[in-house]
Amino acid sequence: PADRLPRITVFGTGYLGATHAVAMAQLGFDVTGVDTDLAKVEALAAGKVPFYEPGLPELLEATLATGRLRFTTDAATAVANAEVHFVCVGTPQMKTSHAADLRFVEAATTAVARAMTHDGVIVGKSTVPVGTAARLREIVAREVAPGVAAELVWNPEFLREGKAVDDTLHPDRVVVGGASPAAEALLRTVYAQPIAEGSPFVVTDLPTAELVKVSANAFLATKISFVNAIAQVCEAAGADVTVLADAIGHDVRIGRQFLDAGLGFGGGCLPKDIRALMHRAGELGAHRAVALMQQVDEINMGQRAAVVDHAVEACGGSVLNRRIGVLGAAFKPHTDDVRDSPALNVAAALHLRGAQVTVYDPQAGDTARATFPSLTYATSAEEAVEGTDVVLLLTEWEEFLRADPTQLAERTRTPRLIDARGKLDTDAWRAAGWTTRTLGRAA
Ligand code: UGA
Repeated sequence: PADRLPRITVFGTGYLGATHAVAMAQLGFDVTGVDTDLAKVEALAAGKVPFYEPGLPELLEATLATGRLRFTTDAATAVANAEVHFVCVGTPQMKTSHAADLRFVEAATTAVARAMTHDGVIVGKSTVPVGTAARLREIVAREVAPGVAAELVWNPEFLREGKAVDDTLHPDRVVVGGASPAAEALLRTVYAQPIAEGSPFVVTDLPTAELVKVSANAFLATKISFVNAIAQVCEAAGADVTVLADAIGHDVRIGRQFLDAGLGFGGGCLPKDIRALMHRAGELGAHRAVALMQQVDEINMGQRAAVVDHAVEACGGSVLNRRIGVLGAAFKPHTDDVRDSPALNVAAALHLRGAQVTVYDPQAGDTARATFPSLTYATSAEEAVEGTDVVLLLTEWEEFLRADPTQLAERTRTPRLIDARGKLDTDAWRAAGWTTRTLGRAA
């Protein structure tokens, strides 16, 4: 029965926290989502997800209707009514360095510890540099009221944007670090369904749990930069990186996923996580890790520069006053997130060089406009390619893969395409009159 299940708070209602709160309510728990941002809280309480995430609005509506889920800015009441407190706030990159900004994690942990009126477990989910959880334990010990037992454990999250609901309900693994037997039992109850479905439950110490998360993202980033480095060799040697990736991917030790060459990785996680790892590894004297992550970052940023160069070349050496159509603004399909988006980055770089850049994205138009108001935004692919000298495919939305190249060609000044994601059927585009260039294939 619901009254015997542990009651849950979730601090932070961004991509991670909102999804986690809704998923926990879906699993039958009583959940309160807490945020300092009143607008977010009001939106979620009214059944509106403040960002684009497929499947989440429907599940939010359904779980709100059960009465098991609510959102508030009142941390004290929420904490007083629960036993398990998830910390899901952001850890963005510092403006002045590669380090992670831990202000929000510290503030949320402090708020929970201060508000605890009875025993409970604080569960860190945010991505943090190794060693953070140990420091947060000191904060908890200092802030919690005498007689209240507050235990802090680490339980990293691996969800992908665009697949957040599914990843949260059916995780590849559950990792719990630094838990006492009682806290471990509590988390086994919280994750009973995924465990029953076969998700491995990995028990570790605190620093290992923190590092598992960072290493997973660093490995994914390394895979992408590896294939992008090979793509450069392919271009020079007249080989095809997509066929190559398929072929090496058949080896189960390698695996095909995350071997799509092209514009590289962006978003709110991979770029800042490898930089935070660089910074922390440096502090710890782990110089080989620093060197590896530096190369991964450099190769990745080099892909963006390469696409800008291709566009300049396509325009005959200068993009000044040339019309460029950009398809895609989100850092990947199925999201409206433009944080560190390679697509927007390239669009902005071309704009700075004097090009007239028109961007279209099926979902991220508004977030992109808010980030880069000086670019021109279209409401369709047709509109974006109108009168252009070159068209860039920068985010591989299905809508673009299905687009009719003949119709689009008619709208351009010169039907010239750069496929920076290697996903278009360029034979079909060529047959429709386009000249095409794909990253990772010979010109
Ligand atoms: C990433 C991880 O995949 C999640 O497991 C993790 O939980 C999350 O970060 C996080 O730390 O919160 P996400 O940022 O949603 O998830 O995006 P990914 O799907 O990993 O894609 C990252 C970037 O890599 C995108 O820009 C994508 O276009 C690019 N990418 C991906 C490639 O360039 N090539 C590929 O083969 C795959």
